[in-house]
Amino acid sequence: AISRDFAYGIPKAELHLHLEGTLEPDLKLKLAKKNGIDIGQESVEEVEASYQFDSLSSFLAVYYPAMNVLQDEDDFYALGSAYFARAKENGVVRAECFFDPQAHTSRGVELEAVIRGYYRAVEEARENGLSADLILCFLRDMSADSALETLRAALPYKDMFVGVGLDSDERDNPPQKFAEAFDLARENGLRVTMHCDIDQVGSIDNIRTALTELGAERLDHGTNIIEDPELVKLVVEKGIGLTSCPMSNSFVTEEMKGEEIVELLGRGVKVSINSDDPAYFGGYIADNFLTLAEKESLTKEQVAQLARNSIEISWAEDSERSAML
Ligand code: ADE
Ligand code: ZN
Repeated sequence: AISRDFAYGIPKAELHLHLEGTLEPDLKLKLAKKNGIDIGQESVEEVEASYQFDSLSSFLAVYYPAMNVLQDEDDFYALGSAYFARAKENGVVRAECFFDPQAHTSRGVELEAVIRGYYRAVEEARENGLSADLILCFLRDMSADSALETLRAALPYKDMFVGVGLDSDERDNPPQKFAEAFDLARENGLRVTMHCDIDQVGSIDNIRTALTELGAERLDHGTNIIEDPELVKLVVEKGIGLTSCPMSNSFVTEEMKGEEIVELLGRGVKVSINSDDPAYFGGYIADNFLTLAEKESLTKEQVAQLARNSIEISWAEDSERSAML
């Protein structure tokens, strides 16, 4: 296995990270107090005790209501700023962070407050030597019209985010539902990725559609391509990156999917390791590396390859990316 210092120190990109999923219990309580919101818990221990989930849907049912404590631009800035500080400690040199505007606009928060707050944190991270960008995600359990409307409203700020993604509950919400929004994103020069979650019904078909019809450049999760040799071949040929999240997988599927990750790595798929929602799943990115390395007895070379993959499949500028490798 590898040492803790190696896991933390190796330069890496984090490409599958939901900023809302970095809301730690102490900040949650602090913002609840600041904004006069009763979240039903009064201490870190009570908040942690409420984190009981064993599936994507039971996780999302805890995750979305908690976001109510985020009310103004400064709150989004505080959340982003806290994550980037953690990322630096974890050896992250490049962070591409998802955010869910609809989870905030749907409860009356202005889109501008969300984007400007997060973007202030991005600028601060850059000043501190961490290359960072934002990825706007559509909530797939909301309507296609809502996604389109959200993207249109965000386009005036398009210099503040690098791409679009797709998250929330995949069941009955295939990616082609959002074809129009993805088209509009690409027309505006935005990059495209999407969650193709593990163990969801129809996920293999969704992956194929994402790659062949919707212009997905990466797959978030997506390790179940292993069920289909043709898909593995396609992903290798196209150089499509996979963003895996071992500790998140353990919660959502009761399995880390470590064997799949190692197998795909061996077959030349550009798979990377990420933390997804670290405040909820028990560890930031270096802990995800450590946990996986221990479970699968990874060599230093395998860990280095996973870290290198993350930088290679990142959307940093070419010159910046070369300098990180
Ligand atoms: N939102 C935050 N984390 C997610 C995940 N793992 N899958 C889908 N939507 C999410
Ligand atoms: Zn995710």
